[in-house]
Amino acid sequence: MKLAYDEYGKGARTVVLLHGFPLGRAMWASVAAQIADCARVIVPDLRGHGDSPAPAGGYDMLDHAWDVAELVDQCGVIDPFVLGGLSMGGYVALAFAERLRERLSGIILCDTKATADTPEAAQGREDLARKIEAAGSTEAVIASFLPKLLAAQAYEDNPALVSGVRGLMERQPVAGVAGCLRGMAARADRTAVLKTFDRPCLLLFGSEDRITPPEEGRKMASVLPDAGLIVIDGAGHLPPLERPDETAAAIRDFVTAL
Ligand code: MLT
Repeated sequence: MKLAYDEYGKGARTVVLLHGFPLGRAMWASVAAQIADCARVIVPDLRGHGDSPAPAGGYDMLDHAWDVAELVDQCGVIDPFVLGGLSMGGYVALAFAERLRERLSGIILCDTKATADTPEAAQGREDLARKIEAAGSTEAVIASFLPKLLAAQAYEDNPALVSGVRGLMERQPVAGVAGCLRGMAARADRTAVLKTFDRPCLLLFGSEDRITPPEEGRKMASVLPDAGLIVIDGAGHLPPLERPDETAAAIRDFVTAL
């Protein structure tokens, strides 16, 4: 499937950044622009988001991974590249690493985890998917996710950021949001992928992340052969939006050291 994408910078290194759910590629815009001095940066809308197609049905994390593979081929990326993903984007990055590890020079896992949903969590996603389909609106998903995406303080101090994140969520179509919910509910545990990932990994977490706290990063660091963990102070689940400068600096250091 052909994905819509933005491209920043140029050069020998390529970095591909995958967004979280249900946000779209704009969530990486500031970070991508900042690291464009050291790499070519490709930032797609995953299927179901933004300007990419949103077919009916659930989107397996491998569906997304094959879409990303098609995109990098289309962009003429031949050498191994760095794949980064936040939350759902991290689930996709791990699915990609499972099947196409040889394409990667490194991986960035941001506010994500390798484990699957519990049966209760998966049922909750299915219930939410049915609810938004019945309503013809994604508002129930926005109401469920928006209050926990940012560090608690941001809801008091930074209304512009809160409304900006809401705006990103409002752009996503019902079929795409439902497809991602069902795909995430069905995703496999990919802890085994971490154990055998023989390339460098940057684990990047917001200190105030309530969805995937830094503890998830510590767990992944303990099984990855070559990982470094950076905790971004004061950020919640979305460091690229909450602390873009610190996030960009961490990614630049990782990419330039490879
Ligand atoms: C995300 O940010 O992509 C989601 O919170 C992931 C999830 O719901 O598991």
